[in-house]
Amino acid sequence: MDAHTLQAALKDLPLGPLRFYETIGSTNDEALAWATDGAPDLALIVADEQTRGRGRMNRRWFTPRGTALAFSLILRPTPAERAHPAETTGLLAVSLAESLLRRGLTPLVKWPNDVLLHGRKVAGILVEAAWTGERLDALVLGLGVNVTQGAAPPPETLLFPAISVEEALGAPLERLPLLHDILAALLKWRPHVGTGALIKAWDESLAFRGQQVWVESGSGAATTGVLLRLGPDGSLLLRGEEGKSIAIRFGEVHLRPLA
Ligand code: BTN
Repeated sequence: MDAHTLQAALKDLPLGPLRFYETIGSTNDEALAWATDGAPDLALIVADEQTRGRGRMNRRWFTPRGTALAFSLILRPTPAERAHPAETTGLLAVSLAESLLRRGLTPLVKWPNDVLLHGRKVAGILVEAAWTGERLDALVLGLGVNVTQGAAPPPETLLFPAISVEEALGAPLERLPLLHDILAALLKWRPHVGTGALIKAWDESLAFRGQQVWVESGSGAATTGVLLRLGPDGSLLLRGEEGKSIAIRFGEVHLRPLA
């Protein structure tokens, strides 16, 4: 992957300007800085290697050279995205899931922002926002996909088992066509933010439906229940003890199936 092949692979998509880095700290950090510096809608940062890649809850995200897709897309929010910013995580999850389905795989989304193959994590999403005072200026949609097994960190460091697209496929995979398909799907789904259609597609890919799950919120409070579906606002609906219905709001949450 280099700037030239990347440009060529994405040339039919109506994206903003593109920045490619052979190596970078974190594409999300660079995108947040670029957003503050006036990046237009759909500006894109792609890196072949990240040395300080970040996951949710300040975890490290591994992106060794040549092993992964790591990019950040800047959105100047539409009114719908401004009203439903959390749906942009679903936007990226649905776009990746659709692109993996086209390759004969069966991805599921571990709500809110991990994508699984065979019950193991193949990709993570980190959406961050740039604010001026109370005004949402930009959303940065970061995606990391394990393409080869080299992208998966050592198992003993993981809270959830990892997999790569190539391991699931049992064959090598070209990264640029996958990137193209994810971005094309995202452009297709973007007008559906806030319409219910995107939530429906996100819901249709939900992992652990009907299973007993454990969910811990950022504040440390934990809940268990049977995972039912997504609510109309993208929250996760569980059936708790004595049939009590529980809605988990989008945010810093951990979700695990209970074996
Ligand atoms: C997670 O699973 O916790 C989210 C991982 C998000 C990783 C991507 S890789 C591209 C972008 N740049 C970062 O530093 N993080 C995101």
